[in-house]
Amino acid sequence: MLRPIPLIPDLQTELPGPLARALIEEDHRFTSPSYTRVYPLAVARAQGMIVEDVDGNRFLDFTAGIATNTTGHCHPRIVQAIQRQAETLLHMSGTDFYYPQQRDLSRRLAELVSADSPYRVFLTNSGTEAVEAALKLARYHTGRHQVIAFHGAFHGRTLGALSLTASKTRQRERFGPLLPGVIHVPYADPYRPPLRANAGTCVDAVLQYLEQQVFQHLVSPEEVAAVVVEPIQGEGGYIVPPEDFHPRLRALAHRHGILYVADEVQTGMGRTGKMFCLQHWGVTPDIVCLAKGIASGMPLGAMIAREDIMDWLPGAHASTFGGNPVSCAAAMETIAMLDESLIANAVQQGGYLRSLVDDLMERYPVIGDVRGMGLMIGIDIVQDRTTRLPDAELRDQLIADCFKRGLLLLGCGVSVIRICPPLIVDRPTCETAVAILDDAFAALTVGSRTDP
Ligand SMILES: Cc1ncc(COP(=O)(O)O)c(C=O)c1O
Repeated sequence: MLRPIPLIPDLQTELPGPLARALIEEDHRFTSPSYTRVYPLAVARAQGMIVEDVDGNRFLDFTAGIATNTTGHCHPRIVQAIQRQAETLLHMSGTDFYYPQQRDLSRRLAELVSADSPYRVFLTNSGTEAVEAALKLARYHTGRHQVIAFHGAFHGRTLGALSLTASKTRQRERFGPLLPGVIHVPYADPYRPPLRANAGTCVDAVLQYLEQQVFQHLVSPEEVAAVVVEPIQGEGGYIVPPEDFHPRLRALAHRHGILYVADEVQTGMGRTGKMFCLQHWGVTPDIVCLAKGIASGMPLGAMIAREDIMDWLPGAHASTFGGNPVSCAAAMETIAMLDESLIANAVQQGGYLRSLVDDLMERYPVIGDVRGMGLMIGIDIVQDRTTRLPDAELRDQLIADCFKRGLLLLGCGVSVIRICPPLIVDRPTCETAVAILDDAFAALTVGSRTDP
């Protein structure tokens, strides 16, 4: 049993400490240099909202392992569910055999996506695999091969999903040629609107671009299998589109017999204050991709499609590990906790956290925009508020400074600080995190910036 960890950042050594330095040095000798570690955190253990490093330093975790530790670290209910399952059945491969955990989770997920119409579930190990599965099913079902995705999108890194990803060129360079037939169009970003539009017209502009440019000059909509879209762009910068974007995009897709595929890998599982983000806008997709927060940190993903769409034949798609029973048990417990209290907590604490961050924006002109829903909040750091030019360097310095003060954060987009704590977060913890952010802003910006 772990000893309980007190809930405050508590820094005992310089950062990184001696044990972290040694671990990192060895890690760098043996692990892939493609990993993107932004600061030197070497984790020994974690509980709730607190992560302890190998030198005994304690940090407040507002990353949730990239929006994944829904119930916090090592929640006793999740640990118990995992232990119980591990003693019973570790693996049997749901591809070839039946077991209750896969049936139960599939039924639960299908019901969550729609209470009215039947959906079916394909379980995976990760988000990128859920997207791969969606891509394959969309092609299989429609017999079409073109796919529409968005600038700034992140859908994963396996070659099919990577073909849809258009977040950073580093993620794509030297891996081509990628999947043919993927067309990227601008996302409806109201803060930096594309296509010379403004916040009020960016949805019109994007949809017109699709209809009048893409469908008239590039591909016939009859060849398009799917439009794959994040409800809120995650890695792309926590970009929340105007509320009519998704309903109108889905309507446009359906007019042409195109499947509407929602990548809820980051936005799903209660993070935005509803089980799935698209529920905020009354949109039910044809296919939904899930992963990250679905099993509180155990590897699991899901591709959930309307029953009439999931018409592929035995052997068309499968996975050895997908739907692992231990991961399924963790997911069932996670969903129970979301239903009981954590979605409501995401609404409540998300609103409170947002008010605290909005208050920071009043005081620090380098904050150009605060946006998000529930516990998915982005702070966009700009060179000045008029041009809205991103300040990536300052964003990176702020995140590094917060680390030195005991607060774990990540970036996203070009210049955004992403705030995505576990859904168990409470008021005092929000206050502590924002107080640390406040200190970092004060240390790095006061005197060097003026109000526009
Ligand atoms: C929206 C979205 N889709 C897909 C993925 C890929 O998930 P994974 O890293 O589990 O493959 C991510 C990961 O960040 C994501 O944010």
